[in-house]
Amino acid sequence: MSNKVAKLTLDGSAEPIDLPVLSGTLGPDVVDVGGLTAKGYFTYDPGFMSTAACESAITYIDGGKGVLLHRGYPIDQLAEHSDFLETCFLLLNGELPSTSEKEEFTNSIRYHTMVHEQVYEFFKGFPRDAHPMAIMVGVVGALSAFYHDALDITNAEHRKLAAHRLIAKIPTLAAMCYKHSIGQPFMYPRNDFSYSENFLHMMFNTPCEEAKVSPILAKAMDVIFLLHADHEQNASTSTVRLAGSTGTNPYACISSGIAALWGPAHGGANEAVLNMLYEIEDESRIEEFIARAKDKNDPFRLMGFGHRVYKNFDPRAKVMRKICDEVLDDLGVENDPLFRIARRLEKIALEDEYFIERKLYPNVDFYSGIILQAIGIPSSMFTVIFSLGRTPGWISHWNEMISQPYKIGRPRQLYKGSTQRDYPKK
Ligand code: SDX
Repeated sequence: MSNKVAKLTLDGSAEPIDLPVLSGTLGPDVVDVGGLTAKGYFTYDPGFMSTAACESAITYIDGGKGVLLHRGYPIDQLAEHSDFLETCFLLLNGELPSTSEKEEFTNSIRYHTMVHEQVYEFFKGFPRDAHPMAIMVGVVGALSAFYHDALDITNAEHRKLAAHRLIAKIPTLAAMCYKHSIGQPFMYPRNDFSYSENFLHMMFNTPCEEAKVSPILAKAMDVIFLLHADHEQNASTSTVRLAGSTGTNPYACISSGIAALWGPAHGGANEAVLNMLYEIEDESRIEEFIARAKDKNDPFRLMGFGHRVYKNFDPRAKVMRKICDEVLDDLGVENDPLFRIARRLEKIALEDEYFIERKLYPNVDFYSGIILQAIGIPSSMFTVIFSLGRTPGWISHWNEMISQPYKIGRPRQLYKGSTQRDYPKK
């Protein structure tokens, strides 16, 4: 506990208010303003631009340097040497698993991949052209209807089981969304496939032929899941924490995270990037769209560019671009016109004063859509893929909060409405 203090002097007040200054293991110090309400003040920080909402040990981001650590391990090293399930274990438990721990965790996930047969009935109620995120918000939130056996959030074993169930079942539900949209039968998960092989199996195989999955595409899928696994207190993770602070069940919390992620300013950006590349359609039109992105009177923004925290390259975007090269090369579509436009767009934007001055760089969403489309995943499924990858991060933050003393989240406001007035007499 540091004994540093910030002194707040307010007009008219004789004595400055002492506010404790707390230090983390990495990153800026924080000013603890919890005592301000007792002094008759709130802090004001719309968009939480300068607010640390909690203490956490899961992920650290240095936006200026483009650093992303999961439990201390750099994202590029995890992408190269780890895999998605091992990273899930790391986020949940704080340490990399031993060989036996990894085998136990992998088996636990493997044997929770099926969903209750009644869940299949849910899909009959959705139109075939429903956005898959609309289905995921509904079906994930409804999972708590099936698991009365482990909903005591004060029980660590129940929290662990819910975490494993969610990590295991979300790929199955995601693939069901896709199959529903194309009128094909759902594919059951297989216990002889790896996590990412299983996802591609459930997405693209049919009962009519022998189940096969490209190991190269499965590896690319696994790294894409890993790159999305967690990202500190982003909008959807903060939503999960706020929902969790009311004591609701973890399935409802993850459903609220999926709902928040859907927005185009957040996880919906990967789908928006692809739509943008299609709209640009030719390299000759890139300058036109760059000009629109800079025009304050035009709502158009360069999707996949900019970030609230990164004012340098998003380290995930660098890995994603490398995978993009490899997957397109492997598929023999290295001259993919969208990829060519994306590379040129990135080069032009990074040399443009507007983007340099505002420190706008490609983020995780800029290249992911090109790879996902090359794998054969429709753009409507891109944010579902993001929510699949982000589930271990959401549930790790939920568990970190619930496993320690916490309070219900209840922000206040700067009230600008009417002062008290009487109801007009008739
Ligand atoms: C994700 O928070 C996370 O960690 C999120 C995420 C995760 O893993 O959870 O990393 C995932 O959400 C990545 C971001 C995906 N979104 C997009 O790619 C959408 C396009 N990006 C922008 O909407 C924007 O950059 C945000 C929302 C990402 C960040 O916005 P901020 O931090 O609120 O910044 P801002 O809007 O105040 O922008 C600062 C300036 C403004 O110009 P000025 O008013 O100073 O003149 O930069 C401009 C903005 O107009 N700007 C852009 C721009 N992004 C910001 N101008 C053109 N194109 C853009 N993409």
